[in-house]
Order: sequence, then structure tokens, then C-alpha cells
Amino acid sequence: MITELAPAKINLALHVRARRPDGYHEIETLFAFCRDGDAVTVAKAPRDRFTIVGPFADALAGEDDNLVTRTIAAFKATYGIRGSQEVTLDKHLPIASGIGGGSADAAATLRAFATMYGKPLDNHVLQMCAASIGSDVPACLLGRTAYGTGRGDRLNPVDGVTGMPVLLVNPGVAVSTAAVFRAWDGIDRGPLGSGDPLQAALVGRNDLQAAALAIAPSIRDVLELLAAQPCVTLARMSGSGATCFALFENAVARSAAHAQIAAIRPDWWQMESTLA
Ligand code: C5P
Repeated sequence: MITELAPAKINLALHVRARRPDGYHEIETLFAFCRDGDAVTVAKAPRDRFTIVGPFADALAGEDDNLVTRTIAAFKATYGIRGSQEVTLDKHLPIASGIGGGSADAAATLRAFATMYGKPLDNHVLQMCAASIGSDVPACLLGRTAYGTGRGDRLNPVDGVTGMPVLLVNPGVAVSTAAVFRAWDGIDRGPLGSGDPLQAALVGRNDLQAAALAIAPSIRDVLELLAAQPCVTLARMSGSGATCFALFENAVARSAAHAQIAAIRPDWWQMESTLA
């Protein structure tokens, strides 16, 4: 039996540069990963079985076609695997929330299957398989801070933010990534910097924020509350939203912010973590 963590992904910055003829957008982003998230457990079994447990299991219940089942099919087709497996997804991250929950689950499934069937992880066949499942899946497979270009699938790892305390907050609204990209105003506001990732993030932006705010106005409340907390280095929306994050100078300040926000908005989802 193999258990793989599916850590939450955040976009420290996300610049949208152009619409592409294939329906995707050319982006420049800085991916970072939390130490916490979902988990995927895989074991060989007499017949295929897929179970979802955890706090957000109900949100996915009844959907036969999700990113994990698609990933299992893609992996088996790619490597010609005939056996059956029992797969359990422990769902802690909210659905459709800009922190790559589904992509992280897909990447964790690929890692677990690759380990189980003795396939190398740093191999372009597995990376191609990841990219065929979703734009963020290659970044989640890599699982470390990286600049992403193209549709987010061309990656350049970078060091410099590991260990930073982070708080994720979601106002309880699911937002469709495709709808947010469609609502982008089409204005290229310029490239994302390179080099030191925190510096690049601080002078960077999330170009999807305005589009997401138009769809889910409560994102503004989250951003204002996060930005008002003491010792915040950076507060921003992640991906296409609605989850926002704040990086803190220390873990005590992060936990104080968590408690403060929980007291004001007990209905909002929050996760305290540390950047990997
Ligand atoms: O690649 P993935 O299936 O996760 O993307 C979901 C949707 O988000 C795409 O169908 C597309 O509408 C939008 N998208 C985009 N440009 C990107 C990534 C995603 O337009 N770079």
C-alpha cells in the first residue's frame, strides 16, 4: 500500500499574457506548495475500487469522472498496466478553489502508481501523461517552487520560499477556472520577474483576480481581512480563486490571524500550513 500526499498548490503570482488559438492562455506564474493537503492511497486489489473520504468527500460524491479516475485510466493506458487497484482519496482541500486540489490529487495518483509499478518519476513519459490531464498537473508532479510558462506546464524550479508560514482562506464559493479565464479582460500587463521568487512575487500580480472578483465578490472580503493581519508579507488570490493566501513573517502571527479570521467568519474554510 502506498500513500502519497497531494499538497495544496498556490500561485505566488500569475500573469496572463495572451489568449491562445487552442483555447488556453499563455501565462507566467510562480508555483509554490504547502506541506498539507489531500492524500491518495493505492493498493493492488482483486478488482478496481475508488473511495473518497475526508471533510470534502461529499462535494465529489457521485461523480464517476473525476481527475483521479481519469489519471488512473491515463496511467494504465500509457504503461499498459492490466492489474486492478483500490484507490482512496482523502479530500481535505475545497473543490474548484484555485489551489489545485484536483491537479494535486492527479499528481499524487501518478506518483503512487509510478512507485507501485516501478516507473521513474523524473521521466518525460510521466510528465507528458501529467500534462495531458491538466495544465497544473506537471507542476504538482514536480511538487516544488517553480516558475511556470506556456499554459503553466513548462517549469523552472527555484529555491527561496521554503519554510514560510502560510494561511489559506476560502469564502466557501466554488469558481470555474474556465469561466474566470474567459472573463479575463485580454490586457497584457507585462511579464513576471525572474530570480528570487519572493521578490518576484511581491512585485508581481494575479491577473485573474479582477475576473474572479466579478464572479465571486466575496473574494474581496477575504483579501481585505488577510491584508489587515499583522506581519503579513504578501496577501493574494491563488490561481483562478476563490482561495486566497497570506505569507507571514512567523508562525505565531499566522496562527493569530487564523484565530482572528475564524472568530469573524467561522463559515470560511481555512488551512494553516508551511511552504514546502
Ligand atoms: O488545463 P485544465 O483542464 O486544468 O484547465 C481548465 C480550464 O482553464 C481550461 O479548459 C481553460 O479554459 C482554462 N485555462 C486556460 N489557460 C491556462 C490554463 C487553463 O485558459 N493556461
